This record gives sequence, C-alpha cells and structure tokens, in this order.
Amino acid sequence: MATELRHSRILLRPWRTGDAAACAAMTADPEVMRYFPSVLSPADNALLVRRIDEHFNEHGYGLWVLEIPGELEFAGFVGLLRVAFEAHFTPAVEIGWRLVRPAWGKGYATEAAQAVLRHAFNVLGMKEVVSFTTAGNKRSQAVMQRLGMYTRAEENFEHPRLPAGHPLCVHVLYRLRREQWLLQAAYDGFEQPLPLRP
Ligand SMILES: CC(C)(COP(=O)(O)OP(=O)(O)OC[C@H]1O[C@@H](n2cnc3c(N)ncnc32)[C@H](O)[C@@H]1OP(=O)(O)O)[C@@H](O)C(=O)NCCC(=O)NCCS
Repeated sequence: MATELRHSRILLRPWRTGDAAACAAMTADPEVMRYFPSVLSPADNALLVRRIDEHFNEHGYGLWVLEIPGELEFAGFVGLLRVAFEAHFTPAVEIGWRLVRPAWGKGYATEAAQAVLRHAFNVLGMKEVVSFTTAGNKRSQAVMQRLGMYTRAEENFEHPRLPAGHPLCVHVLYRLRREQWLLQAAYDGFEQPLPLRP
C-alpha cells in the first residue's frame, strides 16, 4: 500500500477506482497537454495509469493522486519518477506534476511538490531530485523555481524520446540537492529535518 502525504491544503494519495477516468479527462485536455507531443487517447491514458501503478509496485514511490479535500477529489498527479531514458544527468529521480485546469493558479502544485520533496529527502533519503520540461513551459519552470531548484543553461538537453528538431525537443534541467533543501527548509521553517535512516 503506497504512502499518503499531507500538507495544509493538499493530500497526495494512492490511486483508486474512478481516478483513471478523471485522469483520462485531464490528459485529453489540449491546454493541460500543450507541452506534450499530443493529448492522450483513452488507451494511452490507461497505459499511463498502469505504468504509474507498476512504478509504485517496483519502487514504493511514484506519481500520487493530488486531492484537495472538500474541493477536488482528483486534481491531477504529483510525485517522483525514475528517469526512464539516458541523458547526461541520469540515473536520476524526477519530480513531476500535471493538474486539471480548475486547480491551476492556487499554489497547489508547489505545495504538493514541497510535500513530495520532504518525503524524497527525509524519508527516502534521496541525495538529489531533478525536474525538466520543454523550454517553453514557463508555468512548470515557475514551480521548479518556487521550490528553490536551480538551472544552468549548459545543462539544457534534447529529449531523446522526441525527434531532433521537434518544437518541444529542447528541455531545461533543474536540480535540487538534499543539503540545499535542508538549508531552505530550516530557513522557511517548513519542516524540521528528520534524521536519515542509515
Ligand atoms: C505546471 C502546472 C502544474 C503549474 O500549475 P500552477 O497553478 O501554475 O502552479 P502552482 O499550483 O504552484 O500555483 C502557482 C500560482 O498560484 C497562485 N496562488 C494563488 N493562491 C495561492 C496560494 N494560496 N498559495 C500559493 N500560490 C497561490 C500563485 O500566485 C501562482 O500564480 P501565477 O502563476 O499567476 O504566478 C500546471 O500549469 C499544469 O498542470 N500544466 C500542465 C501539465 C504540465 O505542463 N506539467 C509539467 C510538465 S513537465
């Protein structure tokens, strides 16, 4: 059974019946999928949900369902993924997010991602978490910046799963190391770091 993560306004929970259909509606929304190669068909969405489930089974963490209690039972997903392709920064664990449009502009993605980072660094003992997106996806990069992640132009890369020259091909990479997060967390008073398990 996957862990639940909570922060003041958000709950990150395991997937349950009904979430796949809500996710299909989200991944069929052209605005949500603007920075992906295409919207997802119901079959491709089912494959995505199955892969998310397999990732949890294999690693014990993954893309949790974001719920806004009392407001939105399915607000999207936020979580951690092992990067499944080779690049100059792999092997690596990525933090990612995709929210239904009614959940945009309320700080939910950043709040959920903070809870995920706390879990990654404090509970799972990760040393670094990365994030990446296509260069034009400024909303996603703004989340990375709010989390205190940092980028360097020389780490931009061409996504190996997209054809060279594809308009979404060039990606920016953001990184956050555990020690930086600890300093930030102490400064923000967000969460006292717990001792790491050996
Ligand atoms: C990327 C994505 C998750 C960002 O969502 P977002 O709503 O912009 O990000 P947040 O949830 O952190 O919200 C921040 C905004 O909420 C506002 N906000 C409102 N109330 C707030 C509150 N109580 N606390 C914090 N921020 C609040 C902030 O001012 C900010 O507004 P701004 O964008 O006008 O500056 C969303 O656009 C999305 O799902 N996109 C499609 C999928 C996608 O591209 N995923 C990434 C692929 S790599």
